[in-house]
Parts: sequence; C-alpha cells; structure tokens
Amino acid sequence: MTKSLSGFFGSVLEAALTPHPVDRYLELVDPRITWTDLRAEVVAVDRRSPRSVTMTLRPTRQWTGFEAGQFVQLSTVIKGVRHSRCYSPASSAHTPGTIELTLTSHEDGFVSKHLRENIRTGQVLGLQPATGTFTLPAERPDSLLFISGGSGITPVLSMLRTLVDENHRGDVTFVHYTRSAEDHPYASELADIAAARPDWTITTHFTRPTTESDTGGHFRPDHLAGLDLAASQVFLCGPPALHESVSDHLAGLGAESNLHTEQFVLVTPADVDDDAPAQGRLSFAASGTEAQNNGDSILEQAENAGLTPEFGCRMGICFSCSAVKKSGLTKNILTGETDTESDKHIQLCISKPVGDCVIDI
Ligand code: FES
Repeated sequence: MTKSLSGFFGSVLEAALTPHPVDRYLELVDPRITWTDLRAEVVAVDRRSPRSVTMTLRPTRQWTGFEAGQFVQLSTVIKGVRHSRCYSPASSAHTPGTIELTLTSHEDGFVSKHLRENIRTGQVLGLQPATGTFTLPAERPDSLLFISGGSGITPVLSMLRTLVDENHRGDVTFVHYTRSAEDHPYASELADIAAARPDWTITTHFTRPTTESDTGGHFRPDHLAGLDLAASQVFLCGPPALHESVSDHLAGLGAESNLHTEQFVLVTPADVDDDAPAQGRLSFAASGTEAQNNGDSILEQAENAGLTPEFGCRMGICFSCSAVKKSGLTKNILTGETDTESDKHIQLCISKPVGDCVIDI
C-alpha cells in the first residue's frame, strides 16, 4: 500500500472509530503496534549504579531518529495517571533502531524513582520525537571540549559516542564530574573510549570520593590546563554551580561565545516575591527563541515572540496549549500555586514564569 493510500485509509478508520483513535484499540491487542502514536519497547534494563537505571528502548516505526544532545519526552502510567519527563539519549545518534536512556533517581524525582525501581524489559513507554537545540554543529569543529556533571553526562556522552562512530579526527577533551566511582554508570564506557582513542583526553573527577584512588574535586581551571579554549567549542551540561564556574572561567578568557549549554536549573518557591517586578529570560527551546519575561502568561509571551503555539479556550479548561516546561519556576495564574518540577507538561495559557524558564515550543 502506498503511503498516501495508507494515510487515506488511516483517516477513514480514525473517523469511523471516533471518539477513540485507532491506537486506543490497537494497544488493547499489542501496545507495540501503533497507527500514529510513537512508543518504545524496553528491550534491556541495566542498573549500573545505586541511583541509576539504563534502559535500551526500541521505538515504533514512527521514530525518525535524533541528533546527539537532543532530548525526548518519555511517558509512563503510574497508578492510572500518565506522567511525562524529558531525558537526553546517551547513545550515539548513529545507533540504528534503539536509543539508550540513563535516568538518575533523585529524592524528589517521582518518575525517575519509579522507573529505577520498576522498569523491566518488555514494557512499552510513550515517546515523543526528539527535540532541542543543544547539538553538535553539522560541520564538526576541529577542537571540542565536553564538560558534564552528574546525570548531565547523557547528552554530551551521546555527542562523544557519535564522534567515535564518525571516526572524528579532531581534538576532543571530555571532563566529567560525578560524586564517586560507585555513582558513575558510564565509567567503563569512558574507559573503553579512552583506550580506543588515545589521542583524546577523557578524565573524571569525583566530588565525593569514597576511595583513596578517587581523584577529588569540583571544577577548577587547572582541570583544563593546556587547552586552547579560545579555539575550542565547549559543550556543557550539569548543575548550576558547574555551569557558573565554567562560564566565569571562559568569560575571564574572553571565550564565553564558544560555550554551548544545557543546564539543570534548580529554583525554589521560596524565591517567589509576588510584588517584585517580572524578571528573567523566557526561552523557547524547540524554536530557539527567547524573550525577556514580562510577567504575562507564557502563551501570550510566546505569541508576542512570534510563535504560534496551539490554544483553545485560553482559560485553563481545554488543555490545547499544554507544552513541556524543561526547567524553571512557574506560577499557576488561577490558583497561585508554584511549580519547580522540570520536564513536565504545563498549560501555557494559565502559567507564567518566575525568573528564567525554558519551555519546549
Ligand atoms: S488554551 Fe485551553 S487550557 Fe490553555
């Protein structure tokens, strides 16, 4: 059947089965068979460290791949409620047919904790197409520096593995910060790459060393000694303190424009002062657009920035405007409730940012 014919019959079938789309019926037979929905079967599970779980997923036929550094939205049903979170694949963008996700379960990480404890092979998870602008330039730079902290290793490891698969001949330095050797799910992977590519420099620093052989310490400029940072493109993903230290160091060298970042922003409701003027940057990750937060709803600010997100009622009823908040603190305009959770669906028409906020539209 040609694609247009199958699309035609699909539309007719969808219409005939309204109000339930075809995929709602197909999932009763086998959740891996879908007409339009993108999903992924868990084909391998590896709990390599006490806080992490590494899952290999095989997406359904709708998957069109990803660029190293991008993220995907994963969804799962917990006690009858669907929850979605965003994670960056750690695998090479050239891995055919599967993607690898490593989740670190944090104390307040409801979904990551659930998946760390319960995920098993054969389960099927919801998946959205990959998105995000934290990616390698199509023309690979001659000199690349990757810096990551904790679970921020995944997008930059994906970049590193992609370069390995491309047999990249340029200079590569990879510096990772993690609590301890025990807490490092990719220790052996990095050791293998270091052995295969002795021309590259790959180091790990332990911020909470548990053995005498663990080298200790948070970021220090001498960890980058000998590198020409003015001539390197720097890709950084990690917690705010690491981000700040590296940014300051690069700014001191006049090389801040070489920095590309994916940051975990940790803000708390205690930071909210309702009487304070609106501040911070509102970033729209998928479109690469930014706006100075003016205190209006995110939907209005997106439209003012030239974007055209979907909407319906504009009053918090229909959920048409739902989009993923990647990071930042938002406030529900109707209830006054604040929300710090990252990688979560919010309604743009009734949410406003409080400080820096990243929305995936
Ligand atoms: S447009 Fe209807 S909930 Fe936002």
